[in-house]
Amino acid sequence: MDIAYLFDWLNLLLRWAHVITAVAWIGASFYFVMLDNSLSPPTHDDLKRKGVDGEMWAVHGGGFYHSNKYMVAPRWLPLPQNLHWSYWESYSTWLTGFGLFTTLYLYNAGTFLVDKTVYDWTPGAAIGAALGFLAAFWLIYDGICRTLGQRKNGDIVVGICVFVVFASWLACQLFAGRAAFLLVGAMLATAMSANVFFWIIPGQRKVVASLRAGETPDPVHGKRGKQRSVHNTYFTLPVLIAMISNHYGWLYQGPNNWLVLVLLMLAGALIRHSFVARHKAHVLGKRTPWEHAVAGTLVLLGLAIWLAPPPPSAAAQAAAAKPVTFAEVKAVIDQRCTMCHNAQVQSKNVALHTPELIRQHAQAVFQQASVLKLMPMNNATQITEDERTLIKRWFEAGAPTAP
Ligand code: HEC
Repeated sequence: MDIAYLFDWLNLLLRWAHVITAVAWIGASFYFVMLDNSLSPPTHDDLKRKGVDGEMWAVHGGGFYHSNKYMVAPRWLPLPQNLHWSYWESYSTWLTGFGLFTTLYLYNAGTFLVDKTVYDWTPGAAIGAALGFLAAFWLIYDGICRTLGQRKNGDIVVGICVFVVFASWLACQLFAGRAAFLLVGAMLATAMSANVFFWIIPGQRKVVASLRAGETPDPVHGKRGKQRSVHNTYFTLPVLIAMISNHYGWLYQGPNNWLVLVLLMLAGALIRHSFVARHKAHVLGKRTPWEHAVAGTLVLLGLAIWLAPPPPSAAAQAAAAKPVTFAEVKAVIDQRCTMCHNAQVQSKNVALHTPELIRQHAQAVFQQASVLKLMPMNNATQITEDERTLIKRWFEAGAPTAP
């Protein structure tokens, strides 16, 4: 069987698993952030006596749930053996994500990571740099948290934001736009998983061990875990937009693509803030601070206006008057596409070297070249805007293949 075909299967299955585990992780994370921010002081004497710090009532799936939170640890009972831990959601998301990144971007680094018009280097060097990016971001982010973590909360937020902006800029100077966006998402997501692996879970293990030994646990573990967990919650929407935005060529192909990425992530963090604050506002009977979500939405609106495609050139307007011939479209495809889509090389099982094949893939050609502008890959063959418009007009005229 064709190796490229098998890789497509691997890609599909890893992507599926990655989405499932990410849904589970982010779902659990959203749930606990909601729970934490929805707690109110316990109402019953019994709970107060037990040292419960906050409670939440919920109705779901035909039953009522009553959650109680003990800030450091419950003092009135031994910890049960069947304590539920949350970490596999995080680890499996990272593992499947890294697997997918390897099969797609590292295995095909020459096509996916390197764009010689952005930075001309060998696939091997680009692979090393991409892996270095993931590790370096974690080390520096962790360093920022350790050094600024004891100071005012604002310091750490500013520190992380400045660093994320710098990393986004740097990624876009080195890698193909599509890879740069994904890499920034992967770098934040790696830090999220590393927060769980290196700080949150080890801290919780220490607390559980001291409780089981009958000692009073050190509250620093809880505080530290909470700080990293709050960062993770603000990373969620930026990570997701960085990962899916790379499927939209018009977002990452411009000269200031790093700024597009930063603004998308900023919008995500602002919108997330309104949702985090909303739960607390509910408990206190206050209104939800929607202004952050509104600001995030305005950032997106500004981006949409900034990135709107320019009006067609005078040449394209003049050409629009007469119908497109198939010969014109075939000439563009021969020049810009068949290099990677022919009898021997069939990227993603698409070949475009005969009129029948072009006819068969007309819809996908239109989508990829004119709408999403994902093809040619990294615009390796330098297709022009007018040529994209030509394909669009041909498709809209019913994609005729008669000469
Ligand atoms: C430099 C090589 C290269 C060039 C040039 C190129 N492609 Fe591709 N194409 C690829 C690769 C690699 C993939 C697989 C992308 C992926 O897996 O995300 C692909 C995938 C596709 C797909 C399938 C997309 C999907 O996700 O199902 C279509 C359709 C396509 N290309 C059309 C075109 C058209 C039309 C052109 C010319 C305008 C073109 N390609 C030029 C490399 C190229």
